[in-house]
Amino acid sequence: MHFHGADILSIDPLERSDLATIFEVAAMMEVYAEHQKITRVLEGAVLGNLFFEPSTRSRVSFETAFYRLGGSVTNILDKTATSIVKGESLEDTIRVMGGYADILVIRHPEEGALKECAEATTCPIISAGDGAGEHPTQALLDLYTIMKETTRSLDEINGLSIAIIGDLKHGRTVHSLVKLLLLFHHIHFSFISPKELSLPSDLLERIASHGHSVREGTDLIHGIRGVDVIYMTRIQEERFLSPSEGERHRGSYSLTKDLYELACGPHARVPILHPLPRDSRPGALEIAHDLNNHPALAIFRQARNGIPLRMALFALILKVTDKIKKEHSLQ
Ligand code: CP
Repeated sequence: MHFHGADILSIDPLERSDLATIFEVAAMMEVYAEHQKITRVLEGAVLGNLFFEPSTRSRVSFETAFYRLGGSVTNILDKTATSIVKGESLEDTIRVMGGYADILVIRHPEEGALKECAEATTCPIISAGDGAGEHPTQALLDLYTIMKETTRSLDEINGLSIAIIGDLKHGRTVHSLVKLLLLFHHIHFSFISPKELSLPSDLLERIASHGHSVREGTDLIHGIRGVDVIYMTRIQEERFLSPSEGERHRGSYSLTKDLYELACGPHARVPILHPLPRDSRPGALEIAHDLNNHPALAIFRQARNGIPLRMALFALILKVTDKIKKEHSLQ
């Protein structure tokens, strides 16, 4: 992939060699993300951060990543505070915003809306999630986290065994992560979900056509036994046609310390990931609080990895990697 000026709307255009490029730059960004070193390579550049759907991590980590590179950020956080309420189209809004910024990050509740945005402007766009479609940068940071937590190189992702649990139908991070893992060989997928919330058939077909192994089931303990990585997800209640349907699935799966130790062993260190937010309402809680201080719980390290990973994407798309590599070698 040619990163300079590119859109990142899906995992589809990415090749395995692109991952090596992104992760190499992300690793270099860690000292800047942690404020141990300072860079201003994006001084004067402006990020337009447009979130038409709620967010904590994606919005703030994209914003922080841009600030850490020396750039400035302008935000749209609420559709009702824009001229869309006066009848302006999404297309016109994006065309205008593309003229104000050097790069746009957009989250939209409708699947496919990001494609429409990309057609409206030549300004590069990074998707921060489109409805139940994809969340490509989350998947990239998830894989970056898997490599760090399991101390595997990119080549050692071949043969990985991963359990993915929860709302696999609506989970956009799941869709992107599965696509990302299809770039490797011999992945063992264990999908655990209520039957109505299973992985979309087109993705299952793609997995089969790439020769990976798939186990589908509804039982959490059975599904996580023997895997290298556990990836929990939230029931995406906002995606159901009626609130009661979503509520019916609330709490379908809750990983507790007892269940984890029963399935993985008392001294296990099988990393537990979750894109977050974790649903902490009564009756939900995909990962119980008794795992909060468990060394295998990687969820907060995972969220933190969003900063260097997103800094890497900004640097590649806005073509400042050579500049920062030079600075990095001199400091
Ligand atoms: N993981 C993620 O997308 O979280 P937010 O919805 O808080 O951005």
